[in-house]
Amino acid sequence: MTYQQPMFKNEELKDKVIVVTGGGSGLGEAMTRYFLQLGAKVVITSRKLEKLTATAEKLQKETGGEVLTVACDVREYKAVENMLAETLKRFGKVDVLVNNAAGNFISPTERLSARAFDIIIDIVLKGSKNCTLAFGKHWIKEKQAVSTVLNIVTTYAWTGSAYVVPSATAKAGVLAMTRSLAVEWAKYGIRMNAIAPGPFPTKGAWDRLLPGELKEKFDIKKKVPLKRVGEHQELANLAAYLVSDYSAYVNGEVITIDGGEWLQGAGEFNMLEAVPQELWDMLEMMIRAKKKE
Ligand code: HXC
Ligand code: NAP
Repeated sequence: MTYQQPMFKNEELKDKVIVVTGGGSGLGEAMTRYFLQLGAKVVITSRKLEKLTATAEKLQKETGGEVLTVACDVREYKAVENMLAETLKRFGKVDVLVNNAAGNFISPTERLSARAFDIIIDIVLKGSKNCTLAFGKHWIKEKQAVSTVLNIVTTYAWTGSAYVVPSATAKAGVLAMTRSLAVEWAKYGIRMNAIAPGPFPTKGAWDRLLPGELKEKFDIKKKVPLKRVGEHQELANLAAYLVSDYSAYVNGEVITIDGGEWLQGAGEFNMLEAVPQELWDMLEMMIRAKKKE
């Protein structure tokens, strides 16, 4: 399938230095692999250095690219400043920040402790803020001509969602930050965009959100008009475009990649998808008959 293939064929990200938070697993790893294939140097960061090292070794072997690993809890501003310093020490510059690190609890909100709620807000909203602020200050101080931030949010950043309320609240904040800074920092050559993925199976998100039998019980594919989940490569393709210079005029945008999932839940009459053709024949007759009354 075309969408499972790499979209760019040459070294479209050559000489770019890209930081991917949460780059040691899941979608962060998939984006990192493709950025390396396109010639970028990539820094992957998260809390667990062992995991980062294993991913870096694997990806370097696969792609021949260069990966730096830095342990960094994005909740700590000092740790983020240190991660930026390590990046500059190794590569001399940084061009792109991908705010991908996240945490999530699936739970009725009243069952969450105040601390549990805080943990998610701190990783997702405060973590994205910490990285964006540290990198933005650096780019502005250095008068770097071109730089970009890509935030990974979700479609429930604007619809909201029951049972993942801390995550929904935090992602909404990240989206507001994306749009606000897209305007405020454009004069410094900083572009800000976001991707809102629908369901892309990963161990981190899916084993936590739909553990055990829940996965079988809620067949997520059924919620998607295209009747499939996302492939990691198609998300990586979109991310590569948004961090490349080909998207130089795209700023302040959130691009949904979900097979139409959130709209299926939104349209007033979308549930009529379940009506079979024969029933439509009968319904049409009834509706036309009403007009004659
Ligand atoms: C209610 C819970 C809970 C649960 C833990 N807690 N699990 N409360 N329901 N299932 C409470 C604990 O009692 C504790 O509160 C507090 O939460 C912290 O618990 P810890 O076990 O200490 O958690 P911690 O080790 O800090 O880890 C939390 C985490 C972890 C950081 C969020 O799960 C993690 O590493 N997540 C990263 C990966 C991840 O979540 N990826 C998913 C991203 S998916 P008290 O008050 O007792 O101390 C996503 C979007 C998906 O973002 C969209 C799909 C379409
Ligand atoms: P994942 O593999 O669990 O990725 C989350 C990453 O965040 C992990 O690598 C984790 O690494 C890191 N992280 C967690 N807390 C951190 C902290 N305090 N500081 C630094 N790093 C931290 O899940 P994923 O599915 O790939 O998710 C990636 C992104 O896509 C997230 O923003 C998520 O919200 C978004 N998303 C995913 C889906 C999906 O279907 N998969 C859908 C919509 C949106 P450590 O444990 O080593 O810290």
